[in-house]
Amino acid sequence: MKYGYFDDTKREYVITQPDTPLPWLNYMGSQAYFGLISNTAGGYSFYRDARLRRLTRYRYNNAPLDMGGRYIYLRDDNKATFWSPSWQPTRNKLDHYTCRQGLGYTTISSTYAQIEASTRYFVPLDETLEIWELNLSNQRNETAALSIFSSIEFCLWDAQDDATNYQRNFNTGQVEIEAGIIYHKTEYRERRNHFAYFACSEALTGFDTQREAFLGPYRAWDNPQVVEQGQAGNSEAHGWSPIGSHHVKVKLEPGETRRIIFLLGYYENPPDQKFDPPNSQIINKQGVKPIITHYLNGDHVQTAFAALASYWDKLLAKFQVATPNEHTNRMVNLWNAYQCMVTFNLSRSASFFESGIGRGMGYRDSNQDLLGFVHKIPDRARERILDIAATQLESGGAYHQYQPLTKKGNDAIGSNFNDDPLWLVLSVTAYLKESGDGNILDEMVPYDNQAGSEQPLYEHLQRSMQYTLERLGPHGLPLIGRADWNDCLNLNAFSAQPGESFQTTTNKEGKVAESVFIAGLFVLAANEMAALARVRNLDAEVRHYQDVAKTMQSTIMEHGWDGSWFLRAYDDFSDKVGSKSCAEGQIFIEPQGMCIMAGIGLESGEAQQALQAVNEHLATPHGIVLHQPAYSKYYLHLGEISSYPPGYKENAGIFCHTNPWIMIAEALLGNGNMAHDYYLRINPSAREVIGDIHRSEPYVYPQMIAGRDAATFGEAKNSWLTGTAAWNYVAITHWILGIRPTYKGLQVAPVIPQEWPGFEASRIFRGVTYKISVKRGGPGNKVSLTVEGQAIEGNVIPLLDKSEVIVEAMLW
Ligand code: BGC
Ligand code: NOJ
Repeated sequence: MKYGYFDDTKREYVITQPDTPLPWLNYMGSQAYFGLISNTAGGYSFYRDARLRRLTRYRYNNAPLDMGGRYIYLRDDNKATFWSPSWQPTRNKLDHYTCRQGLGYTTISSTYAQIEASTRYFVPLDETLEIWELNLSNQRNETAALSIFSSIEFCLWDAQDDATNYQRNFNTGQVEIEAGIIYHKTEYRERRNHFAYFACSEALTGFDTQREAFLGPYRAWDNPQVVEQGQAGNSEAHGWSPIGSHHVKVKLEPGETRRIIFLLGYYENPPDQKFDPPNSQIINKQGVKPIITHYLNGDHVQTAFAALASYWDKLLAKFQVATPNEHTNRMVNLWNAYQCMVTFNLSRSASFFESGIGRGMGYRDSNQDLLGFVHKIPDRARERILDIAATQLESGGAYHQYQPLTKKGNDAIGSNFNDDPLWLVLSVTAYLKESGDGNILDEMVPYDNQAGSEQPLYEHLQRSMQYTLERLGPHGLPLIGRADWNDCLNLNAFSAQPGESFQTTTNKEGKVAESVFIAGLFVLAANEMAALARVRNLDAEVRHYQDVAKTMQSTIMEHGWDGSWFLRAYDDFSDKVGSKSCAEGQIFIEPQGMCIMAGIGLESGEAQQALQAVNEHLATPHGIVLHQPAYSKYYLHLGEISSYPPGYKENAGIFCHTNPWIMIAEALLGNGNMAHDYYLRINPSAREVIGDIHRSEPYVYPQMIAGRDAATFGEAKNSWLTGTAAWNYVAITHWILGIRPTYKGLQVAPVIPQEWPGFEASRIFRGVTYKISVKRGGPGNKVSLTVEGQAIEGNVIPLLDKSEVIVEAMLW
């Protein structure tokens, strides 16, 4: 069952019924001002930090679902009836409804009682405001007398405090209303120099800024008293809960259309120019007024919207493909690329599953996210790398998270996730291959943001590697620390107290439990370091990294191979995790993917064996589960992984982040059919037809799909903010389509399904547009390349001094 359809030409997903199984989300904003918006206009906005600068309130886990948003009410003033054109919050049955989720914008359109209403919400580039552009049209044969009420609920800035500290917060709320514009200025009198504003393009009949005055006592958003009665109360908030609502009356002749613009924005005044007059408590509006005037003009709104579209044109043009598979095309060309940009902007902070007050930027998450957007915005990737590296510790270790506003490591969660440092090697080398910007390695970057501790970025990479080598366990495998990629495999926690954080509880010294996954990741990173050293002609370094990779590889083969697959770990008793000998959790996906990506067992046959085991034990029609059998009870020595009911999250869920590792492994072994088959199993567009099972958005990856042990097998959760976005993008573009950057040029080495006759791709790499046409001449994966009509040796296109290069690839 489907709840809409893809409009590929318009680059939109069109939702055709408002009551989707879950709110289906989209994002607005690309730099500093962001908004989450659902298909029924639910969601909220913030400036830079979803916790500390929250503009609007949202109540998570509410009933009904998805309450709080950018709501407009329409009222037929002759009949005294009202409805929400976005369905929520009144939920009247609409005669027609669509929500078009696009790139950085959402348009919700509906018809009710022959009044058509369409609202396009977006954030203009480089602005700290959002626009709601409402178009109303009267399809009746008679004049319609309508009242329009806008509504938002202000958050008192710090979303965490706002949701908990009522004894203070019910007293601090302040607003100003001037010339029809509502200003939210809570705490502006003292330590803040920012405020929010909510403006409307029309002359107002009235306004409201006090929530209870607008809603009426004991009423909710689905039935505000003011809307019911058709008259704003002109209420002024003093404490309690400030809101913004405009009341506009319009008369529409038959067939007449009217555009009304609402602006919600954020503005900062210089601290010494906060007030006007200076000795008053009135907001100085000189800076913000011209911005408001500008965007209340419909023509300027159109220009801003067109600019947003061309921004996306440019980003998406970096990689476009035409393959025989529409789900592949859609995700690569549009939605997966878009999701990668959203994970770049928001990391794991704000979605409908991340409340915006929890996590900062993850060290491992941000490094992996970079793999998915580095080709689109190399300059910002460079900045991101330097930010991340500046939080690294002198030991080479890493804070598990850092805060986006301060860019400092987060002490509360601390360090000792022993995989963390190694991901920096993957992100930096990905950036170098993409950009060719070797200078970044000489950038002086501090440790733990401490002035005076600066060392070249290259030294940071070396210390990352050294960190692992200095922390080896009894078998010579890397010690796991608090956890590795799998945050829930807590082999040193032994947590028995309810409410303790599995992430930070450590009851064991940590000198025994080892991770085969980190061992594989280490080999992969060491291979990258060796290749980098080779490019820089550092022969001794090349040998060093080759040696340590080799040693770790033999250790893995000796102590990390279970006979038919790679072992997962050794626990604190030095017992095996992820072995045939275990009662539960006999085989795990992560070490299979990671060790094979590191090249282990490729020649000697173990890789093929491990993939066979994955296929037999872990693969399902909905994707590949994390491990089998699921843990049926809590194991003190394993930690959070066994806290989840079987089939959910890290306890044998289909953790989509890991599936692309297996796709890449299959591609490395030349199995294009299998790689693409796994790719399609979790491809959201391919799962659109089973929307009633999948339930999440069909246009973005979820973090998790319930595994075969779960009662809701196939149900997706935690959409949008997940490392799944970047890794699937890498798997399909670099390894299945096989177009990947190298130090020497763009490599073309597709491992595609046998039935594909070929595909076309356009890739912008280091400023050059490569037009690549791949044709299948035989069943294999061997490639013959012709560049600008000339046959070349190998499969790497040499760097040419041209703006466009035509490449033909023959597969045989
Ligand atoms: C989740 C993990 C997540 C961790 C981070 C756990 O509860 O299951 O997926 O990585 O929290 O805080
Ligand atoms: C989500 C976290 O953000 C990520 O860092 C981790 O690797 C996965 N969960 C698996 O636990």
